[in-house]
Order: sequence, then C-alpha cells, then structure tokens
Amino acid sequence: MPLVTVRNLHKAFGDHVVLTDVNLDVAEGSVTVLIGPSGSGKTTLLRCLNGLSHPQRGLVTIGDVTVDYSSHPNRRELAALRAQSGMVFQAHHLFPHRTALENLTEGPIHAQKEPVASARARGHALLEQVGLSDKADAYPSELSGGQQQRVGIARALALRPRLILFDEPTSALDPETVGDVLTVMRDLADQGWTMVVVTHEIRFAEQVADHVAFLDGGLIVEEGTPRQVLTEPCEVRTRQFLRRVLDPLSRVPDQGRP
Ligand SMILES: Nc1ncnc2c1ncn2[C@@H]1O[C@H](COP(=O)(O)OP(=O)(O)OP(=O)(O)O)[C@@H](O)[C@H]1O
Ligand SMILES: [Mg+2]
Repeated sequence: MPLVTVRNLHKAFGDHVVLTDVNLDVAEGSVTVLIGPSGSGKTTLLRCLNGLSHPQRGLVTIGDVTVDYSSHPNRRELAALRAQSGMVFQAHHLFPHRTALENLTEGPIHAQKEPVASARARGHALLEQVGLSDKADAYPSELSGGQQQRVGIARALALRPRLILFDEPTSALDPETVGDVLTVMRDLADQGWTMVVVTHEIRFAEQVADHVAFLDGGLIVEEGTPRQVLTEPCEVRTRQFLRRVLDPLSRVPDQGRP
C-alpha cells in the first residue's frame, strides 16, 4: 500500500481551476519529483498534501490519516494530516533570533512536549546529519543560504514526519551552495525517507527520483520512472518543458521534434 494516496483532487480559486482531478500514489521510502511550468499547480498540490490549501474536492491519505476535502474537514482532521509531513520551502523560514539548534528544538519541545534534553540530543544528531554539527550555536544571519536551508531540512526532520515535502528547495540559493543541499537530500533518500520534491534540478531527478510526475495546467500530464518522463517523454508538452528547463535560452516554438 502506498504511504500517500491522492484521489480526484480538485482546487479552484474562484473561476480559476488550479488542480483538475489529480491522482497520485507515493510509495513508502520512495522519492517523487514533481516538475512543471510556473503556475501549473505544483505548490498547490504540496499544500493540499499537508492541509495548508483547501481543495473543493478530493481525498488525501497519508499513513492512517485520511482527509476527505469534499466533506469540509475540521481543524483537528487538517492538523492530523499536517503532522504527517514536514515541509521545506524555497526560502527557509528559520526563526532569526534563535540559534540553529534552537530552531530545531522549538517545535519538538513546545508543540510535541518532548523533554528538553532529548530534543537537544536529537537536534545535535540532525545537525550532524546535514553536515552542520559545528553550527549549533550560530544564528541564521551567520549562516550561508545553503547552510540555512540545511537547517530548514533538519528542522522539518525534527518533528518526526512520515514524509518530507520540498518546494523548490534550491531555487533561491547561490549556485555554489546548491550541491550541498542536494547532497543532503540524496542522503535522506538513501536512508529511506519518503520525499515529494518540486524541483527544476533535472539531474537530481534523474539520479534520485523513483517516480517523476509532470504537471501542466493543473493536470498530471505524464508520470513514470525518470527514464520514461525525463529521457523518453511521450507528451509534446513534457518535451517542450524539458527543453526550456535544460536550455533556458531556447524559447523557440516546438516544431514537434522529439
Ligand atoms: N492564493 C491564491 N489565490 C489565487 N490564485 C492562486 C493562489 N495561489 C495560487 N494561485 C494560482 O494557482 C495557480 C497554481 O499556482 P502554484 O503556486 O501551485 O503553481 P506552481 O506550479 O507552484 O508555480 P511556480 O513554479 O511558479 O512556483 C497559479 O495560476 C496561481 O496564480
Ligand atoms: Mg511553486
């Protein structure tokens, strides 16, 4: 059984339909990469997975928590769904007046009532896991963008989610720090974390993803293995998108070439 199932998710803002009958399965321990043009609904889909966005219809199941958006889930049901996943955003949202370690222990101590000593011990272990064991006492302003983002990943892990959702985690970073963040993400994948990742890092998707879904206009247009979707895409729209991502200067209209 998949860890995550999404069934017939439909989301509109007024007349503007943003997700149209989206279905997705995410196997436990797998890495799913979502790709697609700007405005195609990637962020909205992630937000529906953790109860931040409220679609008009559709079913999201993560582990033993199911939310049926058609029947107006209450706060408690949405909170239960939210607790299943950790979210890593494009820009880290660290607390500026807390050290790296305090950023990791805040949630476990205050929201999950974990004893301070145990939260701190886990926090140190998580910082080590993301290669920042020497930065426990540093404030966010004393860290590079890539280091801050790695603290952001550790903070998501600190809440012991069932899976991690990443929304373009490297797109706001200086190019030289992107690799460090992708390396941490690959290590997490190797450790068996279930991950859903929105990214334009096609090489990362080729190397790390088990499953790739291409969204366009609120629809999953094509999905499959990285090889099926990234190397041998069937759909013209997928080919056009990949060409633009791999060569941002090519804005020439597609001629139907593969
Ligand atoms: N709060 C909102 N109110 C109205 N429309 C919204 C809102 N949030 C998103 N949208 C619209 O929904 C569509 C999908 O947005 P979404 O952020 O999911 O796209 P995306 O695929 O993540 O794009 P990007 O690659 O630029 O991040 C867009 O057309 C966007 O304008
Ligand atoms: Mg987005």
